Amino acid sequence: MHYAQVQAFDQPPQYLEGPDLPAPADGQVRLKVLASAVHRLVQMRAKGQHFSARTAPLDPSSDGVGIDEATGQIYYIGAFAAATFAEYVNVDKNRLVPIPAGADPIAVAALTNPVSSSWMALSERVKDLPSKFSVLVVGVTGTSGRTAIPVARQFGAGKIIGAARNEKALQALVADGSIDKYIVLDDKLADATAALGHVDVILDYVYGNATATILTALQTGTDVETQYVNIGTIAQDESITLNAQTLRAKKLTLSGSAPGSYSLAAAVQQIPGIVALAATLPKPADVVPYPLSEVARVWDTDEARKKRLVLLPWGQ
Ligand SMILES: NC(=O)c1ccc[n+]([C@@H]2O[C@H](COP(=O)([O-])OP(=O)(O)OC[C@H]3O[C@@H](n4cnc5c(N)ncnc54)[C@H](OP(=O)(O)O)[C@@H]3O)[C@@H](O)[C@H]2O)c1
Repeated sequence: MHYAQVQAFDQPPQYLEGPDLPAPADGQVRLKVLASAVHRLVQMRAKGQHFSARTAPLDPSSDGVGIDEATGQIYYIGAFAAATFAEYVNVDKNRLVPIPAGADPIAVAALTNPVSSSWMALSERVKDLPSKFSVLVVGVTGTSGRTAIPVARQFGAGKIIGAARNEKALQALVADGSIDKYIVLDDKLADATAALGHVDVILDYVYGNATATILTALQTGTDVETQYVNIGTIAQDESITLNAQTLRAKKLTLSGSAPGSYSLAAAVQQIPGIVALAATLPKPADVVPYPLSEVARVWDTDEARKKRLVLLPWGQ
């Protein structure tokens, strides 16, 4: 069987050939892998920079889409349920979610992890949100930030404010009705944040200076909580300076959302809803599919780093 693995954390994954898989164990099924997306999480795992990836050799994949050749049913393969940089996987049946007929396996592979980021934050990491809550999505123009919009609407958001650096992209999101308002991550961020007034929840994909500025400037009331959830660090800055008075002067809770901050049982419970939503979304324009056999060549290209690489173990 062909598969791909990182042999050392300073090198791209290598395409390899090894023995076939053993027969599936009780409670498992054999799937032919159709697509495995290289999310930001997978990129971090491949570099040994994620808490779930500390030793090599390692298959850095997180999830994927595969077909049961006996029935023709296509499934989403849950996060860390199997090493999906491979032609075949044996997976526990309880980690599979059937994909609705007609859904694009590449789009579902590309979108389920991004959709899960805000879904798990809103289902597991915030409490007692008011009806028609307001949400500030920091990093709303990224793939995960964009999917946070339909997720927040599904969870009952009444007002969605987007934050990002690219004002044109923010204007487009307002123009097509995706978000209600935006603030720009620039040198006027503190004033723009203060002018927002209270927001019920902040979903943050960026972190770093932008987050410190937002938390400091936010004018939130003493009656209603603002619940901040860190989801990512696309600004590449894992630390912020937070004045103690910011914590004392506001009704603010701070948390984060990723596997580790919620249980596997919670993820298993939520994943059917996540996949159902992901299957309805259009494939993002920046998805770039490549055969898994080309992984070493395409891994470190500008295209793969900036766009959404999806690897296909059986080619195009
Ligand atoms: N915890 C979880 O479950 C989970 C799941 C998925 C993703 N994540 C994390 O969430 C983050 C975003 O993921 P994604 O899939 O949305 O990534 P993405 O699609 O690569 O995000 C790209 C966007 O990030 C913005 N950006 C890039 N560099 C930036 C910087 N230095 N400062 C501010 N904004 C910057 C850019 O928007 P503008 O130029 O318009 O500002 C760009 O469009 C990543 O850190 C990822 O690891 C976490």
